[in-house]
Parts: sequence; C-alpha cells; structure tokens
Amino acid sequence: MKYPKEYLQEIKTRLKISTVVSKTVSLKKRGKEYVGLSPFKTEKTPSFTVNDEKEFYHCFSTAEHGNIFDFVMKTQNFKFGESVKYLANLAGMRPYTFSKEDQIREEKWSKYKLIYAKYVEFYHKDLFKNPVAKNAKDYLKNRGLTIDEVKKFKIGYVSNEENFKEDIFKEFSESEIKDTGLFYFDENKKKYVDRFRDRVIFPINNISGDPIALGGRILNDNKYLAKYINSPETPFFKKGSNLYNLDLTRKLSNTINNIYLVEGYMDVVGLSKNKVDNVVANLGTSLTTRQIFTLNQFFQHIIVCFDGDDSGYKAALRAAENSIIELKPEKEISFLFLPDNHDPDSFVNEKGKEFFEVFSKSNSVPIHKFLFNHYSKDLDKSPSSRAIFEKKLRLISSTIKDEFIKKYVLEYFLEKVSELTPNTNLKYKKNYLKPTRSLKSTQNYYNETKSLKAIDIKEFSFLYVLLKRPDLIRDNINLIENVKLFTSENKLLFEEIINQTNNFENYDFENLNVDMNLIDRVYKYASIKHILVKNLKDDQKILEILSELVRDLKNYELELRITDLESRFSKDLSEATFNELKELKKQQKIN
Ligand code: CTP
Ligand code: MN
Repeated sequence: MKYPKEYLQEIKTRLKISTVVSKTVSLKKRGKEYVGLSPFKTEKTPSFTVNDEKEFYHCFSTAEHGNIFDFVMKTQNFKFGESVKYLANLAGMRPYTFSKEDQIREEKWSKYKLIYAKYVEFYHKDLFKNPVAKNAKDYLKNRGLTIDEVKKFKIGYVSNEENFKEDIFKEFSESEIKDTGLFYFDENKKKYVDRFRDRVIFPINNISGDPIALGGRILNDNKYLAKYINSPETPFFKKGSNLYNLDLTRKLSNTINNIYLVEGYMDVVGLSKNKVDNVVANLGTSLTTRQIFTLNQFFQHIIVCFDGDDSGYKAALRAAENSIIELKPEKEISFLFLPDNHDPDSFVNEKGKEFFEVFSKSNSVPIHKFLFNHYSKDLDKSPSSRAIFEKKLRLISSTIKDEFIKKYVLEYFLEKVSELTPNTNLKYKKNYLKPTRSLKSTQNYYNETKSLKAIDIKEFSFLYVLLKRPDLIRDNINLIENVKLFTSENKLLFEEIINQTNNFENYDFENLNVDMNLIDRVYKYASIKHILVKNLKDDQKILEILSELVRDLKNYELELRITDLESRFSKDLSEATFNELKELKKQQKIN
C-alpha cells in the first residue's frame, strides 16, 4: 500500500527537518545549515549537517543521507509506515489508515483543490480583463495596492456573470461543488448562488500553497452586508488551523526568526507592499493554540500585532491567554500595540518599513508582562481585588504546558504580587535561606547552637575536620579545593588553612595567621566534633564525613545561585539565563 504523495508532502511541508532532528541531536546553526554530532557514530567533532531548504540531512563521516522520513526510520528503528504515523502526529495531521473512507476522502480532496484552484485563477485573471471588474480595480488602487501585490496574493474579483459557474457545474458533481462552500443553494431562487459575488477575494492557501478557502470584501461599506466573509468551514478547511499567508512566509523561516501575526488580509497585503513579508493573519477568528503550535515550528518569536483599537486589544488579550499555554523555553511570544487606532496596514503605509520595525523592537511586550500589566490595571487596594488578581495570575500560569516556563512565569507573577504585600515579604525573606540538609549523624547536636544558622554550623564542622586532621587534608586537597564558604570570618580561616597546607608538617595551628577567637568558635560550635572524637583515627570514616560536608556546602552554594538566577530569569525570560539555570539544576541533581 502506498501513501498518497500529497499526504507525505504535507508532512514534509509542515515539519522542518531541523525541528525533527533537533529532538534527538543538538544542532547549531552555521550559515544556512545546522551542524551537530552524528547520531550514526560516536564522534567528537560534528560532521552531521541538516539543511531545511533542501529538506535533507547528511553525515559526512558515515555518508548517511536522507529526508525527514529516513531520519526517523534510521534513528528510531521505525519501518516507513511507523515513521509516517509518528511524523504525521507531530505535524498535527490525521493518521492515514488506507481504509475505503480514506481513499474516498483523498479523491474528494483532489477535486476540492482543483475547484478552488480554477476558481481563484479564473477570477484573478478576470479582475484584469473583465470590464465589469473596473470598480474592483479602482477600489484596490485606492487602497494603495499595486499589480505586484494583486499578483502575489492572487487577489480576484467575483463578478455577477454566470459563465464560469456553468462551466464548473458541468465539470464537477453537485456534491463536490457543495463541499467547497463557494456556492450555496438559494431556496427561493431554487439555484446555486456564488457566495462571493461582487466581492474582492483573497485566496487562503494551505501550508503547501493550495487555495482551500477565500476571504471576500465588499467594495463599498454597507450596513446590510458584512464587510468581510470567509468560506464556511468545509471538510478541508478549518479556520483555527490555518493562517493567511503561511505558505509564503514559511519559506522565509530559514533566514528570519520572527513572524508578525496580524488580524486582517489587508494588513498582510499592506505590510508586504512595504517589504515586510514575515506576516500572517488569523482570519478574523480568535487565535488558537494550534496556530501558535504551527508558527512555533518555523519561527522563534511571534509578535502579535493587532489593531490599535478596543476590539484589537480585546483580541490580543484573548490571544495571549490562549497562546501562553504553548509557550516554550526556546520560543517567544510578544505583543505590539499600535498608536492612534492604527492597524498594521495603515501604520506601515504612513510610517514605512523601517519605522515599523524599530517601533516593533522597542515597543513589543513579552506575553507574561502583557498579561500582568493587563490584570493589574483593575487592581485596587481592597483585599478581595488583590486576591482575585493573584488567583487569576496563578490560573493563567497553571495552564502552561511546559513545566519550566510554567514555573518561571508563576515566579514572575508572584514576585510582582509580593510587592503588594511588603509585610508578608519581610518574614518570607528572613526565612528564605533554606537550611541545608543536615547530616544524619549530627542532627541531635543543634540544641546549644540555636542562634546560629544551619549553614554556619556546617561551615564550622567543615573547618573543624580540617583543623583536626591536616595530614589527611593535605593528601586529599582536591576534595576541598572548590568549596566556597559564606560567612566572612569562616572564609578567612579557610583561606589561611589552605595557605598553610604546605607547612602542615608540624600541624601547628597556634601559628595560623587569624584571630584565635575564630578557631575557638569552630571548636565550640562544630556539631561534628562529637562524632569525630570517636573516629579520629579512622581515616576512611573521616573522609566520608568530609565528603558529605563538602557536598552539602556545594549544594548550598548551588541553591543560592539558582535562586538568584531564577529571579533574573523571571525578569528577562532569556534563553541564556535559562540555559545557565538548566546547567546548575543538572549539577544539583548530580550532587
Ligand atoms: N473580519 C471578518 N468579518 C468582518 C470583519 C472582519 O471576518 N465583518 C475579519 C477579516 O479577516 C478581516 C479581519 O477580521 O481581515 C480584520 O478586520 P478589520 O480590521 O475590520 O479589517 P481590515 O483588514 O482593517 O479591513 P479593511 O482595511 O479592508 O477595512
Ligand atoms: Mn484592521
């Protein structure tokens, strides 16, 4: 059995090969390609390359070479069919089952595409050559469009003439035509009517570039007719899964990282006229997570730029709440608000590309800030308003799928919220330095030292071992070299001990160049001493205790650095900070 070529093609179109490969191989961008360590052999220098434009990977050391399907088959040991299923699922497509229904559906699909292709082609040409299209041509000209945009987007005009309709009905069956939603049956007139008659039409293409639906605008604004209509949902067109202009922008994704998401057809066309080509529109419905998922496949940064009016703001808010769910560590979503009731089309036409791009850079707000700012607007001082506010923010962050992002968005929100409760904070901060995990063997010795922090005691114990068994330490210096202490007096003492390591022959700590009180404190408070006295000759045991202390101290340091980074990340949400954090957490796990 064979998969239809188009089904396979659609998978390839929807998934960048680098996206798929990077799930198992870590890739670095180099020019137009990505490079990484070959998954086919162990190697130290990368000889494995991935090329999104050419849709293949190549391994120079093993001469392995292939497309997305080959890669999955080879690296996951899949048969071809399994790799198709796996990738179709990744691409968000229905599985192909080879049933009779699938076959029928496939045939319907090719008819559907054919009808749309003919329709779009016919009315696009008609716009140029049919004299009745003059009004439409004037309309487009008045809106500042040139032939270039009309051609690029295959804009058309559906006249009232019936010739084309008659031809279509001759060539295709009634049910095939009905499926497209291009015509509807008028019960009064007892005939099929062109849904888009007397409208300028904007073809909506699927990701592979086939027209599958239309948007149509009336020429003169009119109370009785909707300014825009779209094709109805059909078996092959689901509004929430498509984006206007995705087929063209997808091709830019190898060189461009960010994508503008706008509301209207005319915004896409207007920006394109001003040479801003990385733009898609969401077809007048609210933004779906499906659409975000699709854009994430191709672009790092989605900039939502809706109209600068009330309804644009509301749509942006809804978009933010829906799309934060899909936020990923390596992806960004921002919101850009335009001034003075501009929409992207009018803004870029007035100010030009450069201004638009600079404006966008300096005015787009990351999604978590936008949501925070929005909900803090209605905030007053009453406890109930604040409680509702905090609950809302917690609810929003709880919807996020990615565990890391969820955590840090919540952290960002809570840090902001905690500014509203300075008194609670004070207490919180005081207790914040978590006690380190206490040595199992020393838990019982804290009573006399309640006023000291757990970390001080741990440091005393550590220093105590050094003071008591300098000979052992000298031979195991690598064990303690990288330890960091926090109390400044203890630090001093530690440095001095290290400095004296070479003079340890006589083990004379009376001559350490430090305040003797420091040493007294260590002797007094080191909780470890009670255990150590019993084992002072047992080298093995002492080294064990020392290792445990070192591990606790290192963990304490890690924990401080992590807390620090976490608060930095909640502010900048930057990838670099995140990676640093990830690295530290990994170390913490190892320790
Ligand atoms: N829209 C719709 N139905 C309407 C109005 C709008 O489906 N009655 C959708 C269309 O996809 C439109 C988008 O919402 O492109 C944005 O609407 P609007 O801002 O009104 O459209 P503009 O592109 O600004 O329209 P124009 O400039 O042509 O007036
Ligand atoms: Mn608009």
